[in-house]
Amino acid sequence: MTPKVIKTIGEMRRLSRQWRREGQRIALVPTMGFLHEGHLSLIRRARKAADKTVVSIYVNPTQFAPGEDLDKYPRDFERDLKLCAEERADAVFFPENHEMYPPGYQTYVFNEHLSDKLCGQTRPTHFKGVTTIVAKLFNIVEADAAVFGQKDAQQALIIRNMARDLNFRTNIIVAPIVRENDGLAMSSRNKYLTPDQRKQALVLNKSLRYAEKQWQEGLRDMARLKADIYTMISARNACRVDYISFVDACTLEEADSRSPEILLALAVFVGTTRLIDNVLLRR
Ligand code: PAJ
Repeated sequence: MTPKVIKTIGEMRRLSRQWRREGQRIALVPTMGFLHEGHLSLIRRARKAADKTVVSIYVNPTQFAPGEDLDKYPRDFERDLKLCAEERADAVFFPENHEMYPPGYQTYVFNEHLSDKLCGQTRPTHFKGVTTIVAKLFNIVEADAAVFGQKDAQQALIIRNMARDLNFRTNIIVAPIVRENDGLAMSSRNKYLTPDQRKQALVLNKSLRYAEKQWQEGLRDMARLKADIYTMISARNACRVDYISFVDACTLEEADSRSPEILLALAVFVGTTRLIDNVLLRR
């Protein structure tokens, strides 16, 4: 059955209130559309967590800086809707900009410390846009749970933090990274890659697997691993490292020998496309 397509905040609120009155649990999957298997895995996870699943599809302008890819961000609503139907989502919230940011809009949700790190260094205004739109979606849908991907590990952590700090009723679920068969982490932005860049982009996953293997074998010299990854990535002519970081998985502060769980995260420009990937390293 085709999910109900909802374009206004009022209608979304009415539907979720009705579901709550009926005692149905609601899970939300926020996306920017152009859905791939990574997104679909979140919808499947949401359906396990609740009785009703809402997928939001909204390319949120406030999380793009001037000069980023807002205008060329891939969109295909009809295809997205078909995929949501196949995954048996109950509703697709698909608002327009004037609905989410009407004239006079001036209020933002801003996370202080986690947002400065990793991607925040290159994209200093990005997470303010993310926390703002996700807070709005949480208030509109009032879901019991919301599902995010570990692909965007920093985003998931910031949202967890926001939900706790601002007392949202929504429980945050984080689902694993879904990869293409050859290991490339799925992303709507992979569409920007030329066939040659697509091949070169495999070095992101390859370098993470290399580091993971070394780690499992007991190597703990993070400076050395970082240098090795840097060398592997820089050997590809289309690739330019934005960052390679070993950070504490909870605080995103630089990892040290006491960090119980370490996030090895990287961002790499492949041509002009910026890709991210990560792996968790446990003690
Ligand atoms: P978008 O990039 O569309 O991603 C939507 C959700 O899908 C995010 O939680 C993201 O982490 C997850 N996701 C993307 N690729 C994945 C993969 N390969 N495996 C598993 N999960 C994956 O992230 C956003 O949109 C936006 O910032 C949003 C949260 C919707 C706010 O605008």
